[in-house]
Amino acid sequence: METRVLEPTAEGLRVAGQIVRDGGLVAFPTETVYGLGANALSAEAVARIFEAKGRPRFDPVIVHVASPAEAEALWSEVPPRARALMERFWPGPLTIVLPKRDLVPDIVTAGLPTVAIRMPDHPIALGLIRAAERPIAAPSANRFGKASPTHHEHVLEELSGRIDAVLAAGPTPVGIESTVISLVEEPPRVLRPGGTPLELLREVLGELRADPPLIRGGPAPSPGTMRRHYMPRTPLFLLEPGLPEEGWERLPRERCGYLGFTTTKRGFRYGEALSERGNLREAAARFFAVLRKLDSLDLSAIVAEPVPEEGLGVAIMDRLKRASQGIARLNAHAVWIKRL
Ligand code: TXA
Ligand code: MG
Repeated sequence: METRVLEPTAEGLRVAGQIVRDGGLVAFPTETVYGLGANALSAEAVARIFEAKGRPRFDPVIVHVASPAEAEALWSEVPPRARALMERFWPGPLTIVLPKRDLVPDIVTAGLPTVAIRMPDHPIALGLIRAAERPIAAPSANRFGKASPTHHEHVLEELSGRIDAVLAAGPTPVGIESTVISLVEEPPRVLRPGGTPLELLREVLGELRADPPLIRGGPAPSPGTMRRHYMPRTPLFLLEPGLPEEGWERLPRERCGYLGFTTTKRGFRYGEALSERGNLREAAARFFAVLRKLDSLDLSAIVAEPVPEEGLGVAIMDRLKRASQGIARLNAHAVWIKRL
């Protein structure tokens, strides 16, 4: 199959909408990351998503809509606090999980009785949903386990020849996936931290559960929150906060890459800071692209500096922990790794 690269124009949207209506796959930008979209009301079309991504099994995918009313047509129950969240955060990086209606195929929800829905804050995503005249089911447009794509070039690197088209609209502004919240539980529970900070959700909901997603063993509450979800080829180690600078001497820096927050460190073969001015929004927007770059350099290891766990920093740290093999610590004699 040849993958068409479509301009993000009215004509591009018309062609993409037709592909979705015909049961095909179109990768498209959202404000968070690129999604791999199919008609959410067709089980066969959604099955193609899993083939293209090479997912070993069916995970539930997010359904994208162009208005709250379209979401309400897919949920069987809409409590007042769902309306309050949609009012405050849509369009935007917040995915809401509620009981589904029968018209949502089981493959979309991997057999769960609930469906996760969001309204993206991106003109091309909304334009595609409108052009397709259907809700669009879409996971992130990467091969299974890989970093989420924040540019159409990332999509083409992994999925060219496996999907019908990509709407080529350049980088995505938020850069980290949506926050997923379940309103089926009491109190509501954050299943995945993401582009909508927990602090803002608490303003609307009051009490909120946000358990750390790193659960050893047992079924994950939300499959995408699996411990090793992002798998860079290069082993990545998260540095213990507050490491003394002398410790650097003991790392094989000439073979390692450094993923810093505000600064990089001397002696590493390659280093990059996510945001020199310490802005978490900028750091989130650049995170996956920087990780991809470091992973492409054939380094022995990537060492990553923690970011502050507040605002979007919670989502960045979640991704870093799930991409990492453990925490690197230094003492007087050696570098040692504590497995997470
Ligand atoms: O920002 C985003 O959310 C991007 C863009 C494309 O919208 N999408 C995305 O999709 O990150 P994906 O498939 O990579 O992650 C979807 C997450 C997974 O953690 C999945 O387990 C969870 O949402 N999810 C989907 N449906 C669910 C459901 N019914 N119950 C619980 N979790 C669900
Ligand atoms: Mg994903």
